[in-house]
Amino acid sequence: MCGIVGYIGKKDCTKILLDSLSKLEYRGYDSAGIAVFENSEIRVEKTKGRIAQLEEKIHRNGWINGSCGIGHTRWATHGEPSDVNSHPHGNANISIVHNGIIENYSKIKAFLETKGYVFESQTDTETVAKLLDYYYNGDPIDAIRNVISDIEGSYALGILFKDFPNKIYAVRKDSPLIVGVGDDEAFIASDIPAFLKFTNKYYLLETNEIVVLDNGKAEIFDKHGFTIQKELMVADWDMEAAEKGGYEHFMLKEINEQPSAISSTISPRIADGMPNLNECGLTQEKLASYSNIFVVACGTAMHAGLVGKYVIEQIGRIPVTVDVASEFRYRNPIITNKDLVIVVSQSGETADTLEALRLSKKMGADTLAIVNVVGSSISREADMVIYTHAGLEISVASTKAYSVQIAVFYLLAFELAYAKGAISKEECMRLTKELESVPAMLEIVLKQDVICKYVASTLVNAENLLYIGRGLDYAMSMEGSLKLKEISYIHSESYAAGELKHGTISLVTDAMPVIAVATQRNLFDKTVSNAKEVKARGGKVIFVTHNYINVDDDVADYKIGLPTIDDLLMPMLTVVPLQLIAYYTSVLRGNDVDKPRNLAKSVTVE
Ligand code: M6R
Repeated sequence: MCGIVGYIGKKDCTKILLDSLSKLEYRGYDSAGIAVFENSEIRVEKTKGRIAQLEEKIHRNGWINGSCGIGHTRWATHGEPSDVNSHPHGNANISIVHNGIIENYSKIKAFLETKGYVFESQTDTETVAKLLDYYYNGDPIDAIRNVISDIEGSYALGILFKDFPNKIYAVRKDSPLIVGVGDDEAFIASDIPAFLKFTNKYYLLETNEIVVLDNGKAEIFDKHGFTIQKELMVADWDMEAAEKGGYEHFMLKEINEQPSAISSTISPRIADGMPNLNECGLTQEKLASYSNIFVVACGTAMHAGLVGKYVIEQIGRIPVTVDVASEFRYRNPIITNKDLVIVVSQSGETADTLEALRLSKKMGADTLAIVNVVGSSISREADMVIYTHAGLEISVASTKAYSVQIAVFYLLAFELAYAKGAISKEECMRLTKELESVPAMLEIVLKQDVICKYVASTLVNAENLLYIGRGLDYAMSMEGSLKLKEISYIHSESYAAGELKHGTISLVTDAMPVIAVATQRNLFDKTVSNAKEVKARGGKVIFVTHNYINVDDDVADYKIGLPTIDDLLMPMLTVVPLQLIAYYTSVLRGNDVDKPRNLAKSVTVE
């Protein structure tokens, strides 16, 4: 969702803002703009469309020469993508960029109209700009403090005041914003890649802390206006992580990074052959004590939770409920202080997941976050955190983040099952060893690239697709289907294979390819029957199963074979061909793989 950048230093600010905005393109956007101090005046350029269009416009209107400014990529919420709705908003004296949603903007707008303010855009952001103007009496911090006590909702704001040329003001609540500090220069940004080229040192801002960037330094104030000292963080990502490294797309790079990402996730959490999650405060006694486990997340992270449910229930014998966060928070869930709520999020900023976490804490449950981005809101608010260490994930379609999330669920399930006495130490060690073998197995699976590309070529003109599977394979079908639809724009659904003949099979024709996932050998014959039913109705079947299993012509048109490990762990391998099929289908359809239409990497509004 919207990206914010800001720069103050000695370099060409316009160039840096454009470059930094391009590093946030993955977040998803439909318009872009910047505001830069030029000869002590604030000059704004903005446009609907891509950053390249903004750059063209700036060249046409004359480069903005300055060394302090703010920039924005907008993902439309209030009002269509248009020049006038693009950020920055404000007037000759104040200019702001905003990420988030101001929930009470209509009320504030009505009030400001009674004071003579006239609005030109349809955005909630313009209300904040005008409210700042209303409160401004020469002291920016005072004005900001007044504004944040009036507005409700989520915001990250970058602000310029004409009276204070070469200063940037910023504040946040429930939308990410970090402060980068380099040599004689400083930045604000929605995410680290925006300034990683210049510095890997940054401050995290807590709710309603106000930062002032001045002369390359960052001064931070609490909500009462008092200066505070904060810990300077160091990102362990380098520029390589933010570049494609020879791959055509970030998605393909990230798919190929899965073996190393999984190793980074699991290695530090295995000691003497046994899983060990003590680092987050989750002792075996605690794990064994929960009555129920809830997993709450969105999209792909929720699908990781589904794998977690099957695995924990199968070996740990604790009931696990998986919820979409946007449903969970409004369904008045029955949770108690005997329960564990696990929230899963790559970004750690997903608005619904964050609210679900807050609700669970309020209801007394223990909360555990499985998160990739260090220092993100979810990681800071949960009682316990397990960082997935997948490194930077830039492609909107989540791949390696999913694999490491399920790797954490395996560790959790093994430890929990052992703690409860549901499996022996020997069995726990055997399963852990199997998990440790996954990265090497994945290197083999990644070589299936060619067959996946071929299968994609057979799907490229499809308008609809079905994914079917049973048990863990059903969970994989859900993830495969989401991956395909979000980047190829082919309509696809996943179905529990056994449910097919309760309605959906009526859709099957020769124009409806079906991807059948059948890695769970106790359910294999049943899925084979379902595939045969599809074939018998003219459907084309792509069958994903173990390498060694032969698949007859009356079952499938194409087979994708996987090496064999314990069936419980097969999802760790199965996901890769599903990701590759989605990837190549999208490439062959000529789509923008890393930035699919209408989508944002981090969904910070509900
Ligand atoms: O950052 P999160 O893991 O909380 O994001 C959750 C979903 O928005 C995300 O997984 C989304 O479904 C991806 N685009 C899927 O590829």
